[in-house]
Amino acid sequence: MSKVLVMYHSKNGTTKRYAEWIAEGLNGDLHDIKNVKSDMLSAYGVVLLASPLLGGPIKGLTITN
Ligand SMILES: Cc1cc2nc3c(=O)[nH]c(=O)nc-3n(C[C@H](O)[C@H](O)[C@H](O)COP(=O)(O)O)c2cc1C
Repeated sequence: MSKVLVMYHSKNGTTKRYAEWIAEGLNGDLHDIKNVKSDMLSAYGVVLLASPLLGGPIKGLTITN
């Protein structure tokens, strides 16, 4: 089965808790998106982003190198 990465952005913790549940359910790795570097992504067959809506675009879509 493909390796799964669940990355999340969460200010108050709700999204983080959902991301933890998803990662546990899929037996995947869990990372705050602040700690994800683009060269990490090639190790995964599935990459999921959990992020809240905060009155605008999805937070945390930018990944630094
Ligand atoms: C300033 C602010 C703006 C928000 N805007 C939206 C929104 O536009 N649409 C929506 O569905 N929820 C909106 N919410 C609700 C948040 O998405 C929700 O509280 C979310 O669980 C926060 O995630 P966190 O606990 O991981 O930080 C907003 C919340 C705040 C505080």
